[in-house]
Amino acid sequence: MWAKGMKPTYKLLLIGVLLALLMQVNPVEAEQKVHRVQQGENLFSIAEKFGVRVEKLLANNKYLCLPNALARNLLLVIPDPEPAPPKTNSTNPKPKPATPQTDKKDPSQSAPEKAAAPPKKSLQMILEELFREYKDVVFLSGPSRSNKIALTFDDGPTEVTSSQVLDILQQNNVKATFFLLGQNIDRYPQVVARIVREGHVVAGHSWSHIQLEKAQLPRIIGEVTDTENAIYQIAGVRPALLRPPYGSLNREGLEYLRQNGYKVVNWSVDSLDWKYPDRGNQVIISTLRDVRGGSIILFHTLPGKDPSPIIGKVLPEIIYSLKSQGYQFVTVDQLLSIPAYK
Ligand code: NI
Repeated sequence: MWAKGMKPTYKLLLIGVLLALLMQVNPVEAEQKVHRVQQGENLFSIAEKFGVRVEKLLANNKYLCLPNALARNLLLVIPDPEPAPPKTNSTNPKPKPATPQTDKKDPSQSAPEKAAAPPKKSLQMILEELFREYKDVVFLSGPSRSNKIALTFDDGPTEVTSSQVLDILQQNNVKATFFLLGQNIDRYPQVVARIVREGHVVAGHSWSHIQLEKAQLPRIIGEVTDTENAIYQIAGVRPALLRPPYGSLNREGLEYLRQNGYKVVNWSVDSLDWKYPDRGNQVIISTLRDVRGGSIILFHTLPGKDPSPIIGKVLPEIIYSLKSQGYQFVTVDQLLSIPAYK
């Protein structure tokens, strides 16, 4: 036996390490089902079929604003039949390791050793506070009472996936907003030209996709204005909208943007297409579970030589389901009633 002669404590340790490794390789993740509505089905028959309550079905498909009118092939997220598990935090932007600012001295930190330290604010909490303070500058979603929603695509332009997205948008007569990286604009100017020509909105996403909340102001200004100039040279417009990479920014950056006619547009629904590049159902679930009127939905046009299966298969299905529930796709400036360009 492999463990023969080993001290019991070492055995335990080894088992622990092996277990930890196993969980790393195969993370336990609840996989919900996606159902395509068939002819003659309604919410009640579907709930019965899967052994779930109608209320739970509705809670898992917040986008259903016309639940009595389920179009054929509409996508539904099917909840687990078991009692509801504790809610997971699914609305976070991209999971970045928590990087609390350490340069600011907190007087409460010098309290006596044994006193429990106050819980440190996560970057997420810091950003939420800051964004609340700058609520005339930062937007996460539009008016919830409207039927308007906005698709947004980050990190382009790219050669393959941007064109793939543009084709699908064209086929479905949908206008969207593209948050572009300056460094990619230089590489694929013809894609930028097509985006604008086909009636979509272009906006900035920094030059090099750095974490702007960690950057000094001169760098932030460079990242923003260089991208603005690159867009201007190709499209003849100066964007007034910016989405910072990872949705994060510091106070100096926000103040600069406010004073220079910019609005920051983040998102309220993350499709998680970056996380599940080949798991369409996961992307459908993370999108449809949370969409409602006013939602700003985050997708990406990621680099690569091959078309994205998510974009190719899932995006048209999501558009179909949302349209059939009466949603109207608009660009973010229209959703928020703010100018797209200076
Ligand atoms: Ni990005």
